[in-house]
Amino acid sequence: MPILFRDLPGPKGIPFFGSAFDMELSNMHNQFQEMADEYGSVYKIKLGPVKMAIISEPKIIQHILRERPEGFIRMKKLDKILRAEGVHGVFNAEGDDWKMHRRMVAKGLDVKHQKAFFDKMLISVDRLYAKWKKAADSGEAIDIQQDFLRFTVDITTTLAFGFEMNTIEEKGGVVQDHMEKIFPMIFKRINEPIQWHKLIRKKADREFDKALDAIDSMIDQWIVDGRRRLEEHPELKENPTNFLEAILLEAENEEDFGDEQVKGNLVTVLLAGEDTTAHTLAWTIYLLTMYPDYQSKLQSEIDQTLGDLKCITEYESTQGFKFLEAIANETMRLKPVAPLLLFEPLMDMEIEGYFFKKGTRMLVHSRHAALQDDNFTKGKTFFPERWMKESKCPMHSMDAYIPFGGGPRFCPGKNLALLEMKLVLSMLFKNFDVEMVTPHEDVKEIMAFTMMASDYKVKLKHRVQS
Ligand code: HEM
Repeated sequence: MPILFRDLPGPKGIPFFGSAFDMELSNMHNQFQEMADEYGSVYKIKLGPVKMAIISEPKIIQHILRERPEGFIRMKKLDKILRAEGVHGVFNAEGDDWKMHRRMVAKGLDVKHQKAFFDKMLISVDRLYAKWKKAADSGEAIDIQQDFLRFTVDITTTLAFGFEMNTIEEKGGVVQDHMEKIFPMIFKRINEPIQWHKLIRKKADREFDKALDAIDSMIDQWIVDGRRRLEEHPELKENPTNFLEAILLEAENEEDFGDEQVKGNLVTVLLAGEDTTAHTLAWTIYLLTMYPDYQSKLQSEIDQTLGDLKCITEYESTQGFKFLEAIANETMRLKPVAPLLLFEPLMDMEIEGYFFKKGTRMLVHSRHAALQDDNFTKGKTFFPERWMKESKCPMHSMDAYIPFGGGPRFCPGKNLALLEMKLVLSMLFKNFDVEMVTPHEDVKEIMAFTMMASDYKVKLKHRVQS
């Protein structure tokens, strides 16, 4: 007999409210993790009127990811909240609608486009270098997380929209300010049992509206510019030069893909492409300053690969950097920026001896699985070598490692994210030693849709190379 939802273990909580008052929004991922240590890899929780299964069993996670879009959807509430704000894109589309969105988005983010934009990406790397050189000259402590956010916004807007934003050199960082308000509010609304903002509009709600309006008008303008470019240069129809042009052209041939869908995907890519990559970079710095021997080991690889160059200059040379890749993988295992994913089955399901009814809310908690010794030897230890072929490290369960999701809806930005990380990290560690100014123990994980690091400062020192 399969185990039923009602028979799952889990915290008792108090009548009606369950464990709602025990949960802290910005730390819920760690609370779920502690509960998994106590109740196991499949347990249940009640948060006010909402009951949820919390899953960190790799086989069940893989089943959910694989059986989409037919078997599982993202939690319905996510779509409701995004659509209420006018966002209808690949992330919140489902079924055949999702298939159409995914086709469009995948075309715009393919490797061919990345190669074509490589030189433009180098401009952003150069700007970052100039900024960091100044910081190293002056010896001032810097907020490197902000620099990463600006870098990823610049890259995404250039690659996706053909628009050179240059927030790296911009003083005020207006776009940046707007972007920062969006994810935390979406996360808050997903987790609120009652949608209070529909009744009372607080300051944060008004700021959120303002931020979305600003991004909306910016994107409207990009669409107008994109359409004009396509009209003025009909040759682009054969060879669109960016995501926006590609998606506008595709939309001409797809009846159900109108302006609303074009816009929804532009917002989606802008949001999905910024925070995730920037926060992963921030966590990499956190770990490499905590383990300086690994910083030196990485610098040796970079020195060997780049020689006298100060940064990567050729797309082809990004294929190297195996140790850098290992560090990125290990960072995403210990500090995944998307550690919680929410799903619902579209029909009653029996999976690995558990029975879930249609519509059960299922929260996949992938980090718990990735930290277990059964899946990764010394699971809680930072050990990048485990990703190097020659280390022959035993106990490597890739089912328990899903920083980019999996199955048909895996992250279509994965290659771009890894490319950005290689470009930035190789330039940074080729030219500078990085030291943490804020004590590591003061840097906290903050869950706000993505899992980011609380503010910290670093100092850059020019490297003395023999
Ligand atoms: C380190 C950086 C990144 C991480 C860790 C990350 C992680 C993820 C995860 C976990 C998902 C959910 C996958 C699933 O449901 O199976 C996802 C979806 C998605 N990501 Fe990323 N992502 C990153 C960077 C990017 C970038 C750079 C872009 C685009 C420029 C992007 C675009 C998207 C889109 C459009 C989806 C929705 C796919 C769908 O529903 O079909 N991501 N990402």
